[in-house]
Amino acid sequence: MKIAVLPGDGIGTEIVAEAVKVLKVLDLPLEMETALVGGCAYEAHGHPLPESTLKLAMASDAVLFGAVGDWKYDKLDRPLRPEQAILGLRKNMGLFANFRPAICYAQLVDASSLKPELIAGLDILIIRELTGDIYFGQPRGRRIATDGHFPGAEEAFDTMRYSRPEIERIAHVAFQAAQKRSKRVTSVDKNNVLETSQLWKDVMVEIGQQYPDVALDHMLVDNAAMQLVKAPKKFDVLVTGNMFGDILSDEASMLTGSIGMLPSASLNSKGQGLYEPSHGSAPDIAGKGIANPLATILSAAMMLRFSLNQEAAALRIEAAVQKVLEQGLRTGDIWSEGTTKVSTVQMGDAVVKAL
Ligand code: IPM
Ligand code: MG
Repeated sequence: MKIAVLPGDGIGTEIVAEAVKVLKVLDLPLEMETALVGGCAYEAHGHPLPESTLKLAMASDAVLFGAVGDWKYDKLDRPLRPEQAILGLRKNMGLFANFRPAICYAQLVDASSLKPELIAGLDILIIRELTGDIYFGQPRGRRIATDGHFPGAEEAFDTMRYSRPEIERIAHVAFQAAQKRSKRVTSVDKNNVLETSQLWKDVMVEIGQQYPDVALDHMLVDNAAMQLVKAPKKFDVLVTGNMFGDILSDEASMLTGSIGMLPSASLNSKGQGLYEPSHGSAPDIAGKGIANPLATILSAAMMLRFSLNQEAAALRIEAAVQKVLEQGLRTGDIWSEGTTKVSTVQMGDAVVKAL
């Protein structure tokens, strides 16, 4: 089982190191190869997604990804910015189905900014379409750098675009995921304004007819944003496009107390996947050894489950994470009165010990 390990920038290297440590004690035949991606790859090779990194990723069963980005690259021409690396990996590998679970661990109800009764027992699954939408439609209005100076563009636009097959395949993923859960799908769009959303809704209804055991409802994205903080437990599987999914999944993550807890999986139709924490590179705390590695460790568990067919090992990791939380160990982001504050490395060590 070949894994491409791409730690990236910022806290990426610190958190991925802990996940790799956890994978190594499982005693599975895992072959891991590390490569540069994001800002560090730009520094070394002049491109955030070097050919060699992309090749390694495409030839692997799974990619374990940290995070990319740093403010210091904000002035680069867009195709060279670190974020283009993750977008390039998603597009080139065809990783169209992004699973972002938002689970509230019982031990962390107090870490959320919402009232405990609203979020205790929360377990929702956001399925975000990942290779279409305004992220990949035609852009215009790029600012060209001259001597480090950026003359402002007079006009700029991005194109929101979806094709029927793109919506169909993510619809199947959502309905099939719902069949394994509580058999409910909420499709989120903005069909009162956008043509892409009307197509999205129509296709969802059509594909839904093939899944008579799953109940489908629709919600406008602004309302969904509100309902997520008003009554989040009403959701089960939420399926939406790339842009809305980006925003709603960040919102949902905070329901659980910390974005530092949430893993994600991005899958293609061949079973290959890229696994990354839902959070970013957090340059403000990079190098301090305080980042929460649990989202990445839980992403490694998702990798074992979805791409490597190692359900038992995935369950072991998830149980070990539960155990360290029960022991009261917390990185700063999830710390509360009466618990023990630990570093990134101490948290990884504790998970290894629990295993
Ligand atoms: C995410 C991130 C990315 C996105 C960025 C880094 C390009 O926010 O994975 O949610 O917008 O998809
Ligand atoms: Mg995002």
